[in-house]
Amino acid sequence: MKKQKDTSAAADQVPEAPRLLVLHGPNLNLLGTREPGHYGSTTLAEINLALAHRAEAVGVQLEAFQSNHEGALIERVHAAQQQGVRYLIINPAAYTHTSIALRDALAGTNIPFVEVHLSNVHARESFRHQSYFSDLAVGVITGLGSEGYLLALEYLLSRIAAE
Ligand code: DQA
Repeated sequence: MKKQKDTSAAADQVPEAPRLLVLHGPNLNLLGTREPGHYGSTTLAEINLALAHRAEAVGVQLEAFQSNHEGALIERVHAAQQQGVRYLIINPAAYTHTSIALRDALAGTNIPFVEVHLSNVHARESFRHQSYFSDLAVGVITGLGSEGYLLALEYLLSRIAAE
């Protein structure tokens, strides 16, 4: 018998591109001019553009969000869960060392994440050695400058490709 073409709605559905979200904490909007000895001279816009280009090249949706406000970051994590974001890359900046609330948002939404720091936090003041995120993270990249974000993205892209 001749095979009938499946014309049902389900057959026409193209799977949605996986979504990634990059979260940047306080003062990272100042990258480029902020303490370049620690953070380099690449701007946040340049970092986000490089990430967006790489993701787009492999058909992954990537959005970036920066805030100087703890609550705004927490609400963005909650929204990410609603949007079905698959993975996060997060540089919580100073909230790394202070924010149980942002930690709880990540724990509560269960979105796997990579923690990124531009500077090597372990080679700096002792208050930067403590992170409220590292034990929940899939992995941590610290001290590799803006390249750390791209390395985190490569890792997540390889995970997505293997799923
Ligand atoms: C940082 C390190 C933090 O200790 C600091 O508060 C930041 C940036 C980094 O990327 O190296 O704002 O997360």
